[in-house]
Amino acid sequence: MLLQVIVASTRPGRVGPVVADWFAEQAKAHGGFEVEVTDLKVLDLPFHDEPAHPMTGQYEHQHTKDWAAIVARSDAFVLVMPEYNFSFNAPLKNALDYLNREWAYKPVAFVSYGGMSGGIRAVQMLKPVVSALRMIAVNDAVPIPMVKTLVDDDGFHPTDIIAASATTVLDELAKLAPALATVRENT
Ligand SMILES: Cc1cc2nc3c(=O)[nH]c(=O)nc-3n(C[C@H](O)[C@H](O)[C@H](O)COP(=O)(O)O)c2cc1C
Repeated sequence: MLLQVIVASTRPGRVGPVVADWFAEQAKAHGGFEVEVTDLKVLDLPFHDEPAHPMTGQYEHQHTKDWAAIVARSDAFVLVMPEYNFSFNAPLKNALDYLNREWAYKPVAFVSYGGMSGGIRAVQMLKPVVSALRMIAVNDAVPIPMVKTLVDDDGFHPTDIIAASATTVLDELAKLAPALATVRENT
C-alpha cells in the first residue's frame, strides 16, 4: 500500500514540510505502508487549466498528467494542511479539483495545524470536498494547535497526544487502504 503524504501549504516560511517530514517518518516506522511525500509547492500547479472535466481523464497538460500519475499510484492519502481564515488553503483545493477518478475509493486522513483550533475548522470544510471526490475520510485525525510553538531548527516536536493520534490515524489507514483497494478492483 502506497501512502501519499501531501504538503498543502506553499508560502515562503511555511511550517508544512517540517510537519509532513515528521508524519512521513511516523508512517515509515508504522510499517504498514510505502511512503511518498508530495509537496504542492514543488509540484507548482497553475490554477486549474484543463478544458475537459477531470472525470474524463483527458488531460492536455504535462503538469496534470504528472499529478494524475502520483495520485493514481497511491492507495491512501494524508493531507498535511494549514488553516487559513477558518478554512483550507487555496492550493490544496486547486490540486484536488484537477483530478477525479484518481482520488476515488481511497482513504484520506488529515494532519491539520494552526493556532488554537489546530486546523479543525479547515478539516471540517474540506470533508464535503473529499466526499464529492468519493474519497473516504478517516474520522480520527491529527490536529496540531499552536503549531509554531512545536517547531524549531531541529524540526517538529509533537506532544504525546499528537504523537498518539498519528499512530491512531495510521492504524485506521492501514485498515481501510487494502479494503478500498478491493473495492476499486471490483468497480
Ligand atoms: C493567510 C493566513 C490565514 C490564517 N488563518 C488562520 C486561521 O483562520 N486559523 C488559524 O488557526 N490559523 C490561521 N493562520 C495561521 C496559520 O495556521 C499558521 O501561520 C501556519 O503556520 C500556516 O501554515 P504554513 O506555515 O504551513 O503556511 C493563518 C495564516 C495565514 C498565512
